[in-house]
Amino acid sequence: MQTMRKQIAAANWKMNLTYQQGEKLLDDILGESIKLFAHQQVIFAVPFPYLLMSRSEVADEYNYFVSAQNCYHKKSGAFTGEISAEMLHSIGVPYCVIGHSERREYFNETNAMLADKVNLCLENSVTPIFCCGEPLSIREAGTQNEYVATQLKESLFHLSAKDLKDIIIAYEPIWAIGTGKTATTEQAQEIHAYLRSVLAGQYGQHTADEVSILYGGSVKASNAAEIFACPDVDGGLVGGASLVAADFTEIIRSLKA
Ligand code: 13P
Repeated sequence: MQTMRKQIAAANWKMNLTYQQGEKLLDDILGESIKLFAHQQVIFAVPFPYLLMSRSEVADEYNYFVSAQNCYHKKSGAFTGEISAEMLHSIGVPYCVIGHSERREYFNETNAMLADKVNLCLENSVTPIFCCGEPLSIREAGTQNEYVATQLKESLFHLSAKDLKDIIIAYEPIWAIGTGKTATTEQAQEIHAYLRSVLAGQYGQHTADEVSILYGGSVKASNAAEIFACPDVDGGLVGGASLVAADFTEIIRSLKA
């Protein structure tokens, strides 16, 4: 690796915590005053109603940011209850998770729809944290590489190299999400290196080497350091363990220095 890629600990709170609990969790984590290096970032993907509060909590912290968990795939209009990328930008939200497996599964989000969301985010200066990852049946059939490559191709490969470099990718094997069953470090490294080779095939090695690829799926305080040490793993997207201050701070401390 030439210059160190961005190493990122991203919390995905999903639909958990009240406003007050969220505020206390941020206070507890930020109260640890973990100083980040220039190449390290911490991102909190919080529910929409907590974005402004969270943004002001991290405002004075170096390299701490907030993220939305989703946005709609249309620019604006009669879509009651939805949130646009432009709205996120207008309240100073710099990141948005796109295509989490729960959204793909429960809200029928397709690769084509996610391509539209990625475009709208980039048009509005919101950096997508683009999620990919295979279900258990695909892993058991041994076709996970083709599966994740198709997710990247259909949602990202229309982008220029310059835009691609602005994206964060999160590989989250669905069989490891919330199951306590983590990919082994060998499995994580292997597929992260593969994803990077797919990016290199389309955009060249130089561009591929600049894209941070996070691992998600049962990352815990106890396994984060081992997973993050893999050369092609650039941090994690963390669900359950991000809801406990002591666990998430340990995960932040596990980022490559
Ligand atoms: P868990 O860390 O709870 O397995 O969730 C992972 C995830 O889906 C993060 O987006």
